[in-house]
Amino acid sequence: MSKKIIVTGGLGFIGSHTVVELIHAGFEPIVVDNLCNSEKFILERIEKIVNRKVTFYEVDCCNKVDFSEVLLKEGAVNGIIHFAAFKSVNESVTAPLKYYKNNLNSLIIMLECMTEFKIPNIVFSSSCTVYGQPDILPVTEATPFGEIKTAYGNTKRVCEEIIKDYYNSGAEIKAVSLRYFNPIGAHPSGLLGELPKGVPNNLMPFITQTAKGLRRQLNVFGSDYNTVDGTCIRDFIHVVDLAKAHVKAIDYLNQQMENKFYDFFNVGTGHGTTVLEMIQAFEKVNHLKLNYQLMPRRDGDIEKIYADTTKVNTILGWTSMLSTEDACKDAWNWEQKL
Ligand code: UD1
Repeated sequence: MSKKIIVTGGLGFIGSHTVVELIHAGFEPIVVDNLCNSEKFILERIEKIVNRKVTFYEVDCCNKVDFSEVLLKEGAVNGIIHFAAFKSVNESVTAPLKYYKNNLNSLIIMLECMTEFKIPNIVFSSSCTVYGQPDILPVTEATPFGEIKTAYGNTKRVCEEIIKDYYNSGAEIKAVSLRYFNPIGAHPSGLLGELPKGVPNNLMPFITQTAKGLRRQLNVFGSDYNTVDGTCIRDFIHVVDLAKAHVKAIDYLNQQMENKFYDFFNVGTGHGTTVLEMIQAFEKVNHLKLNYQLMPRRDGDIEKIYADTTKVNTILGWTSMLSTEDACKDAWNWEQKL
C-alpha cells in the first residue's frame, strides 16, 4: 500500500499541523497548496520539525490539468486530505460566488481525480457550522443539517452532500467528513500556527494580537446570551489534536474492506467554553491582562454549540488530549515568536 497522502492546503493552519502528524505516523504527505492564504516559509518550518524534506507543489486545486500532473508524477497515492478552501465567514457573505466556485469546484476535481487515478480514500474538512444552532446539546452526528446563514457554511454542507451523492451513485470511493468545532492553539514548538491575513475574525488570533499590542482592544461580541456569563459557548479544540484526528481517519478508511464507504464525525473536545472563560484562561496561563470590552452581538453568531464526541471516540478511536490552557499557551508562544 502506498503511504502517499495528498494534502491540499497543506501549508494552512490545520493542514500544516496535519502534515507533521502524518509524518510522525509513517505516512508520506505530498503538499499541494497555491499559497493564496498561506506562506511558503511554513514548508521550511514543517521540515524543521520533522527533520526531513517534504514534497511540495504550488498548484491550485481548481486547476484540474495542474492537479492531474501532480498525480501523474507521484504515481500510486493512498488518499487525499482536502483542506484547500476559502474560510472567511465574513468574506463569504459579501462574495458568495467566490466561495461556491472555489470550495465546490476543488472538491469535485478531487472526486473526479480519485476515480481517474484510482485513489481510494478522501478526508474532507467540514465544520460544525453545518448544524446551525442545534436544539439539543451536545450535538451528535444524528442531528440534521440546520439553518446555515453564511455561504461559507453552505459550501461545507453542499460539499458533504456532493460526497454522499457521489458515494451513493456507486463510485468506488471511501470518504470521511470531519466536522471541526473551533480549532485554536499552535504547534508546541512555536514554529507553526494561525496566520490570519489582515484583521482576524476569529477569537484566538484576535486575543493573541491584542496581547501583543497589535490590536488596541478585544471586542467581546454579545454579553446577553442565555449562558452562564452571557457570552457565546464554543467547543475549542487544540489544532494538534485536530491534526491527529485526520491520521485516525486515514487509518480507519484503510481498514474498510469494501471499496465504497462514507461516514462523518464531530471533532471537538465535548466541552463548551464561553468567550469570557477563554479570555480568563488565556490571561491566567500567560500571566497577562487583556484589554477587552463587552460589545453588542455579532451578526450571524450562534449562541452555543459543543460536540458529542461519542462517535469519534468509539469508532475512530480518537480523543482530544490537550487542554484549553495548552492551546492558550501554545497560541501565545507562536504569536510572540512571529
Ligand atoms: C466560525 C464559523 C466556523 C468556522 C470558524 C473558523 C460559523 C457559525 N462558524 O466559527 O464554521 O470553522 O469560524 O473560521 O460560521 N468573538 C469575539 N470577539 C472576536 C472574535 C470572536 O467575541 O474578536 C466571539 C464570537 O462572537 C464567537 C466566538 O468568539 O462567539 C468564536 O468566534 P470565532 O472564533 O469567529 O468562531 P465561530 O464564529 O464560532
